[in-house]
Amino acid sequence: MTTDNKTWSGRFNEPVSELVKQYTASINFDQRLARHDIQGSLAHAQMLHEAGVLSAQDLADIRRGMAEIQAEIEAGSLQWSLDLEDVHMNIERRLTDKIGDAGKRLHTGRSRNDQVATDIRLWLRDEISTIRRLIKDLQAALLDLAEQNAATVMPGFTHLQVAQPVSFGHHLLAYVEMFGRDDERMADCRRRTNRMPLGAAALAGTTFPVRRETTAALLGFEQICQNSLDAVSDRDFAIEFTAAASLVMVHLSRLSEELILWMSPRFGFIDIADRFCTGSSIMPQKKNPDVPELVRGKSGRVIGHLTGLIMLMKSQPLAYNKDNQEDKEPLFDTVDTLIDTLRIYADMMRGITVKPEAMRAAVLQGFATATDLADYLVKKGLPFRDSHEAVAQAVRHAEQAGCGLEDLPLTVLQGFSTLIENDVYQVLTPEGSLNARNHLGGTAPEQVKFQVARWRELLAADA
Ligand code: ARG
Repeated sequence: MTTDNKTWSGRFNEPVSELVKQYTASINFDQRLARHDIQGSLAHAQMLHEAGVLSAQDLADIRRGMAEIQAEIEAGSLQWSLDLEDVHMNIERRLTDKIGDAGKRLHTGRSRNDQVATDIRLWLRDEISTIRRLIKDLQAALLDLAEQNAATVMPGFTHLQVAQPVSFGHHLLAYVEMFGRDDERMADCRRRTNRMPLGAAALAGTTFPVRRETTAALLGFEQICQNSLDAVSDRDFAIEFTAAASLVMVHLSRLSEELILWMSPRFGFIDIADRFCTGSSIMPQKKNPDVPELVRGKSGRVIGHLTGLIMLMKSQPLAYNKDNQEDKEPLFDTVDTLIDTLRIYADMMRGITVKPEAMRAAVLQGFATATDLADYLVKKGLPFRDSHEAVAQAVRHAEQAGCGLEDLPLTVLQGFSTLIENDVYQVLTPEGSLNARNHLGGTAPEQVKFQVARWRELLAADA
């Protein structure tokens, strides 16, 4: 960091204290917006030229200077100065050092208030596009695993107690649905992010003849913020994005919790590739599911950022307040955490080994086909409540006998209802249970394959 004079120090009697300088500066983190800051400035300069405010020579100088600055940033050679507070003033000063007065004219008809709001939106809309691609890649990984396991039976749980047999593929497709909604939310949030504050200046607009449509077209903004006060003070898009990101993390956290349970020897349903696990420094036998555990942990961190941003905004009067500078770190960390997590997760799902025998054995332990037996009796004419009672008795008997329903001899089963015949054993198998639920949204392998194909088409259409 170099030191330098403030841009706005003209009206002050003494410089800010060293502590205040450090406390108020954002350059340590907002330098991340440099590329988008330059992008916004170039569009603003071109618009000013078209509006007759900047000469052709000034515009040419600004373009040349900015190209050099861009190169310096990429090379890591630009010296960021704490005295220049933030990325906007650092770049502007560097430009002025290079090209003189044209650099000083760039800020005509603009304020850092509309500038920073523009930068964040430009940056975030790119990140949202990246996130949407990564969500789809994770969905693709889940679809492959679901397809391979369309006919793999596992216990479906409610209250974490064995409920009914489900296809493992069907279970995975539940997450594909969640991530599909996440992607919709990201797309929707991107629309409201992709609106241009530039032209609002500090808060009231500007006396210069700005052509906001021109700037918006140059920057690819879909819409223009229609109220200058709202333009500089609105951070709804940041909150919306963090809320959408929190939900993605919640979904990933739920899946993580399941992977951790399934990998535990008590379940033994899956194995996670070694490259996603670590050992213990004391217990030689350990293989720990660190990645899903960390994902579960990091979901809390992103949800914390959401809370932080909502609290940041809730008491701010219009229009811009310095509080808003605090929007960046939570936003940056949310994006980084989410992108890293999505990347690693798709890779991890491609390294899952499924253990169908263990899943099937667990189904057989929990009387998972009791509902199928009840439905069977209803189809033979028994009212559902009576059949529920008859099957409950049968389950009680099997439990005492230490066997499954399918192990009870026909004569014993007939003791609970005379409607039971030899065809009951087909109904009591996990595979029979799955196949019997062959309707839209059901767990039958045929439905799983249908949904995999449907999702692949949707993903291909989006690509
Ligand atoms: N660094 C500031 C931020 O991140 C830029 C805007 C500063 N505006 C001001 N009036 N001090 O929000």
